[in-house]
Amino acid sequence: MDSPVLSNFGLTAPLIPPAPRIHPRPLGVTPLGQLRVALEMGRSLIGAYCEEDYESLAAPYMFMGHPGLFLNDPGSARRVLSSPKYARPVKAARSLKPLVGEGVLMSEGETWRRQRKSLAPVFTPAATGGLLPHFIAAGEGLTRALVGKDRANLAQAFHHATLDAVLRALFSRRADAAKGVFGGAILADLARRYMEGPAHFNLLDFVAKGADDLTFLDGERRRMGARWFKAVDALIEERRRNPHSAVLDMLDRLLAARDEDDRPLPDQEIRDQCSSMLAAGFETTSRLLFWATYLLALDPVTQNRARAEVAAFPPERITGLDDLKAWPLLRSVLFETLRLYPTAPMIARQALEPDEVLGCEVVPGCMITISPWVMHRHRKLWDAPTAFRPERFLDQTHPWGIEAFLPFGAGPRVCIGAGFAMAEAQIVLAGLLERFAVAMASDRPVIPRASITLGPDHEPEFRLTPIMQAPA
Ligand code: HEM
Repeated sequence: MDSPVLSNFGLTAPLIPPAPRIHPRPLGVTPLGQLRVALEMGRSLIGAYCEEDYESLAAPYMFMGHPGLFLNDPGSARRVLSSPKYARPVKAARSLKPLVGEGVLMSEGETWRRQRKSLAPVFTPAATGGLLPHFIAAGEGLTRALVGKDRANLAQAFHHATLDAVLRALFSRRADAAKGVFGGAILADLARRYMEGPAHFNLLDFVAKGADDLTFLDGERRRMGARWFKAVDALIEERRRNPHSAVLDMLDRLLAARDEDDRPLPDQEIRDQCSSMLAAGFETTSRLLFWATYLLALDPVTQNRARAEVAAFPPERITGLDDLKAWPLLRSVLFETLRLYPTAPMIARQALEPDEVLGCEVVPGCMITISPWVMHRHRKLWDAPTAFRPERFLDQTHPWGIEAFLPFGAGPRVCIGAGFAMAEAQIVLAGLLERFAVAMASDRPVIPRASITLGPDHEPEFRLTPIMQAPA
């Protein structure tokens, strides 16, 4: 049996990090129970799971009169995510479309296929390798801001660092550059406020039939979306007037991209793609860094081992993606973090046609809920599912090959930015470990709470102890 560890102050291995309580029995059996599920899920999308959920592979359910299937079987989940019989649910489009427009994140069908193809050159390993200096700069910005502090709210610090990284990678703009409409600070502020506010699902998202129904009632989303579009449009216009002489960022690549008929992409599409990258990329990666640092703070032995890797090959020496192989444990820590705290905790699809999944009938409109949170802690799919054991990923050259590991989704709509996120997270985390030892300032457990991403129930303070640098 795994024994629990209560804090980082000297308890036993293996570490069983905090998680929300698991209900002994299903909640939603009676009408009152369904109301309880709605309330629990309103607080946190992972708040209503029961013991049975961690054992079953497929469980049909009815929720507020709508049929659904809770799917944990990895093969079937991958099949659903790869099948044209399913589409992203309406509520996801409603929450993000005002920010990402018709970009790849929310488009469907032929438009999506064409867009995904035109984006492929922006995310090749070579293109991601070209973005490493931006990630190194963002990591240095993070550690500079922490110098002289013995305590810090790292949840906020990582939000800032990942916004900085994505704004640098997209537009060569720093998140704290406050100059006029082109200043990264305006974009950073808008993106942060949108994701923390209007992006969250509201009641209308659950009742509306289409992505564009009743949107006149979503004033805040429309207002913030319009300001965001104006700022990104201005940046694109400015870049057209003053092009870079070499490819320095993703905007350069998007301006150079050609569609299937060899035509440049329209400005609106470029804007929507940039917005999609930002919306999909900054908070997910920020949360990954937060949970990884939390786990390392609770497990100082692993933290020291990861730091030794970084000391042997410091982030300043990284010049290409291959150099990241110098940190195998650090990379495994990030994968194990994505297993235990998948920062995209819920993947949903709505059936467009009848189907059958693992013997369960699927009618059109049925919601298929795939929860990386549950699948990654499933008792039939993982050994010691609740324990923090980064070594389980050490031998995996390709953890994507593990069928029950879905942090970035699967199928044709698998995360296009997975390589980007992993490179960024490794570099930023390595920079932090190189400069500081991290521990928790208090014993209070941090419980994950899920909305669009998996965040903490409170933002804890971390204690920081500077690491003495060896003389050069
Ligand atoms: C730890 C960080 C990240 C996690 C856990 C994550 C997770 C995911 C998941 C699970 C999906 C699939 C959703 C679905 O099938 O419904 C997805 C899609 C997507 N992600 Fe990520 N993501 C991360 C970082 C990024 C970054 C850094 C970018 C861009 C720079 C990005 C861009 C996208 C886009 C554009 C899509 C939509 C792809 C499509 O529909 O074709 N993501 N992500």
